[in-house]
Amino acid sequence: MLPADTRVLADPEAVAIEACRLISAAAAAAITQRRIFRLVLAGGTTPGRIYQRLATSAQQWAAWEIFWGDERCLPADDPARNSRMAQTRWLDHVAIPAAQIHPIPAELGAVEAAAQYAETIRNKQPFDLVLLGIGEDGHTASLFPGRKSQAGAVIAVHDAPKPPAERVSLNFETLRACRQQIVIATGSEKAAALAAWQHGQNLPIAQAVRHDACLLLDTSATRSADFVSPIV
Ligand code: 6PG
Repeated sequence: MLPADTRVLADPEAVAIEACRLISAAAAAAITQRRIFRLVLAGGTTPGRIYQRLATSAQQWAAWEIFWGDERCLPADDPARNSRMAQTRWLDHVAIPAAQIHPIPAELGAVEAAAQYAETIRNKQPFDLVLLGIGEDGHTASLFPGRKSQAGAVIAVHDAPKPPAERVSLNFETLRACRQQIVIATGSEKAAALAAWQHGQNLPIAQAVRHDACLLLDTSATRSADFVSPIV
């Protein structure tokens, strides 16, 4: 089942605008109540537009603290790293204190990085907001279908079907340990996974996403014969 709050928007830009609006509202509320906004970023390409829009938004950046939901085991400056995408499009352009930006040290290898990141996030939960993408196979973060479940807040992945095979990922429970989740999916290549999720397939995205999450789709992502458009 999809979250009750599923919104179908015109195109990827509209999804990015709405996501930015929701993230900004969550930040304002968290900072008012707790003087800190702890945000977990999604990897992949879909959030790129969101990060670019955040880069030019007016925020209380000194109170933002950034984490990642997963990372690819590549050198820290590799352009294919999830952290590099967010840094080049956004974090390098705003005044979030460096001590409050926590990339996953995946260059150390999956096992060591997972152990270190579990320590990094130990006293940082519940996160205020977790941003999640979805893969064509229904994966999210680096939690892929058909994999044995692992214990631990942060896990080492050695057999990811989406290169690179070596990754680090927050585990299901950790991705759910938050006040709010926003899931973003755009493009017709995501339609089959969304329809399978909607019809009850127990995909990683279905296991990671809370019932009270907000799912932001563009119309292309709903273009599957099996997808039943939510009544809005
Ligand atoms: C990664 C991401 C992954 C991503 C989905 C969607 O490392 O690839 O963490 O979970 O969110 O695969 O990727 P796109 O946004 O590029 O479609």
